[in-house]
Amino acid sequence: MKEIVIGFLGCGNVGGGVWELLKNFAPEIAHRDQVTIRVKKVLVRDVNKARTCSVPKELLTTVPEDVLCDPEISMVVEFMGGEQPATEYMLTALKNRKTVVTANKVAVALNWHRLQEAAQKSKVGLYYEASVCGAIPIINVLMSSLQSNRIDKLMGIINGTTNYILSRMYDSGEDYKIVLQDAQKLGLAEPNPASDVEGMDAAYKLSIMASLAFHARVLYRNVFRQGITGITQMDITCGKEMGYVLKLLAIAKRQGNTIEVRVHPTFLPQDHPLSRVHGSFNAVYLHGHACQDMMLQGRGAGDMPTASAVVGDILHAATVAVHSHPTFANRAEPDASLTFTDNWSTRFFVRVSAKDTPGTLQKIAGWMAQENVSIATMLQKDAVEEGRVPLVFITHEASEKAMQAALSHMEKDVCTVESVIRVEA
Ligand code: NAP
Ligand code: HSE
Repeated sequence: MKEIVIGFLGCGNVGGGVWELLKNFAPEIAHRDQVTIRVKKVLVRDVNKARTCSVPKELLTTVPEDVLCDPEISMVVEFMGGEQPATEYMLTALKNRKTVVTANKVAVALNWHRLQEAAQKSKVGLYYEASVCGAIPIINVLMSSLQSNRIDKLMGIINGTTNYILSRMYDSGEDYKIVLQDAQKLGLAEPNPASDVEGMDAAYKLSIMASLAFHARVLYRNVFRQGITGITQMDITCGKEMGYVLKLLAIAKRQGNTIEVRVHPTFLPQDHPLSRVHGSFNAVYLHGHACQDMMLQGRGAGDMPTASAVVGDILHAATVAVHSHPTFANRAEPDASLTFTDNWSTRFFVRVSAKDTPGTLQKIAGWMAQENVSIATMLQKDAVEEGRVPLVFITHEASEKAMQAALSHMEKDVCTVESVIRVEA
């Protein structure tokens, strides 16, 4: 029986889950893989903090070198979170010839090239399945099973907190602030939920997924990002009446050397497979030239679902003969041949408040027509304010810049633009 000695960096939600899974699943791991995993040291901030997991106190340390420089430890598993000091600790571990497994999307998205270079130099592994979509094995699918494909489109619900909030708003008609408070009470949202609701969490994950899908480095700063904080119940209700469901979508498309990567609230038709992904579930929908359409769905967060991905990586790393790495040029900057466009084509949901006078609709339609934006559907709601009327339009596909130009004319002339939400099919 082979014994692998590992060290933990962190022991919070995810670390605690990994500890319990390794402990409870040990007999099956030993039987199936002929390997035992022994956790020797666990780095935390405070050794006296009460913990829900059963890790013995004598394994805890606040000295990083106890994990990073112990020659008996051959694998370091990181779930501290944040860019630093996690990245520097992982780099030290890799330099010391220890394979690294991490759940940290921020560190991978921002410093992937440095981590990969260090791993390759030391001929050790770097694994990060848990960094994107928790239990869903999207990294492995992109890195191995779908290598036979040219992937041109990927759309995902990759943040559980925002999907929980938007699903509740859609189902119950409640307002954003009330549902967010509940998500925090349930432990879904972070105490400071900005990374979830402002779309940063999804943008980090998208930069990793899009890089693997397109075999080209896509940086976090290449991703256009808009969160859900401006979404109102009125938007969701109008979209619902028109046959759409609102999701925070992470979208990546590639046409030749042009790439678009964006995270923003998006209306999807009610019969789209992603529209049926509710609550804190995650899902990734993609299209490849050979596999065609595919969707993977599962739990994107939580101690055990995330531990499932981490322990999968640990077992793979413990038993594989040669560690593999992505084959694209993983550098600090994307390849110069690539263009990241901010002028994508999509459909738009536009909600305005307009003067309730003859000719208003004609003027709005005129400004859209002038910028080559064609209206597909329109809804007029009852007036909520004396003399003004809410109007909702869904356009045919138009370029982002054309839509913004039309909105600017409309605002100067005839209405107040209350919301603009992109629509995908
Ligand atoms: P968490 O509960 O806050 O745990 C963080 C752990 O790291 C704690 O044990 C903390 O020590 C330790 N730590 C943090 N900074 C440290 C430092 N400077 N020195 C020493 N120890 C330090 O976080 P989590 O929810 O487990 O998430 C961990 C990572 O997994 C993050 O990168 C997150 O994005 C990723 N992830 C989380 C989930 C999820 O559902 N939670 C899902 C997928 C991926 P103390 O315990 O002493 O405070
Ligand atoms: N905060 C993240 C989410 C979980 O809500 O999906 C970790 O990726």
